[in-house]
Amino acid sequence: MRIAPARRLRGRVSVPGDKSISHRAAIIAALARGRTIVSNFSTSADCASTVGALRALGVSVGMDGAVVRVEGAGTKDGPPDFRAPARPLDCGNSGTTMRLLAGVLAAQGFASTLTGDESLSRRPMRRVIEPLELMGARLKAVDGHAPLRVEGRRPLKAVEYETPVASAQVKSCVLLAGLGAVGRTSVVERGALTRDHTERMLGWFGAEVGTSAVRSEGVEVHTATVGGPARLHARDLSAPGDISSAAFLLAAAALLPGSDLTIEGVGLNPTRAEIVSTLRLLGADVRVEDSRDASNEPVGDLRARGAGGLAPMGADEADEDAPRESSRGEQHARADAHEARDAAREARAANILRGSTIARLIDELPVLAVVGSQVEGGLEIRDARELRVKESDRISTTVENLRAMGAEVEEFGDGLRVGGPTPLRGARLQSFGDHRIAMAFAVAALTASGETFIEGAEECVAVSFPEFFGLIESLAER
Ligand code: S3P
Repeated sequence: MRIAPARRLRGRVSVPGDKSISHRAAIIAALARGRTIVSNFSTSADCASTVGALRALGVSVGMDGAVVRVEGAGTKDGPPDFRAPARPLDCGNSGTTMRLLAGVLAAQGFASTLTGDESLSRRPMRRVIEPLELMGARLKAVDGHAPLRVEGRRPLKAVEYETPVASAQVKSCVLLAGLGAVGRTSVVERGALTRDHTERMLGWFGAEVGTSAVRSEGVEVHTATVGGPARLHARDLSAPGDISSAAFLLAAAALLPGSDLTIEGVGLNPTRAEIVSTLRLLGADVRVEDSRDASNEPVGDLRARGAGGLAPMGADEADEDAPRESSRGEQHARADAHEARDAAREARAANILRGSTIARLIDELPVLAVVGSQVEGGLEIRDARELRVKESDRISTTVENLRAMGAEVEEFGDGLRVGGPTPLRGARLQSFGDHRIAMAFAVAALTASGETFIEGAEECVAVSFPEFFGLIESLAER
């Protein structure tokens, strides 16, 4: 894919439905009793992998554009008996499909196998094998990697499990397995709360879910519990726009002076919306224009304006700049302002992102590194070792591409430091088959001098955001 620099981005758009929420909607609706209509379902190839796997398990799923109809197979006594699949279930490139379905299949009365593409087959699966075996299922992998064979057990044993890595996929896997266990299953996250869409969605479908947060020895401890065997009831819902997709457009608008971009109806769940306060802390003019609730998730319109010359702001400025919301959004605004203030204290110290904020920014870190190259004082990202086991090793792929465009970058085991501001120059880059690397560097390319070519970019963005290049073209002024 060839990308020419742009002068600015202007317009009003929406982005497709949230990928994380769409996966959960399809899976949980399949476990529920009755028909669920999901509107604004993600157009991503990843969510199509989840739908394909559910169909192979005998679930009827109809798709009409972004409207998905799921005939839930749940019974009046609890989770359904799915049909044993004739062939391995292909999860494609999608870690969420594989790890969440492993939890569902652990509670079935048959054995099945989950496979994926080359990238997914390199990603760690021990993190789900361990808790599911504690619950009584038997799993087999090849040195901790897919293909992953899951021998289910009915019923499973309820457990209390503390996740050794900050991963919403692991948390969700255990909670979904917990629906088929007897008693209360708990997942404890120490330090960082990961995205909580599963907890919210289970509540929407009538499961007995509980969440709590306490501070113990200076560390936040979050616990999510679910009671089983669970009886879930079908309930229509609408997925908000995907903030992790919106992030690329916001970043591009923030970097290009004269830009004025509004993205409507974006999910603003506090476990995902850290990108908004982080961009603001780095000096960008990004704000929430309207916020409301939809299907148990906060949603709002985001507006980004580009002024050029990004410089991190101090804590007091961040406080003043916190979004002024409508009364329905006040609670989110307060939480947002509070987080922005905390993060500002760290940012003021050294243009650094680290600690519990990393889990809330995990998918946005490559594009934030690109933004960091244009920020006064640059940007350092630490405590982000998990990036090494995403669709690519996102620390080394980000470092390699930034360097190819002329940035000064230092690589660490758990992150990187990029100097800034550095004018980027167009280059020949690899996407490494990773959608978020392709989009992060398409953003870099828009701000660079000269043309950039990103190998394989067009194909791999379909994994999460097939409309990406078309939207950029419709918004870019050259
Ligand atoms: C996801 C969780 C994150 C994220 C991924 C989607 C989810 O992964 O990177 O894109 O939907 O639960 P981890 O929870 O493994 O960090």
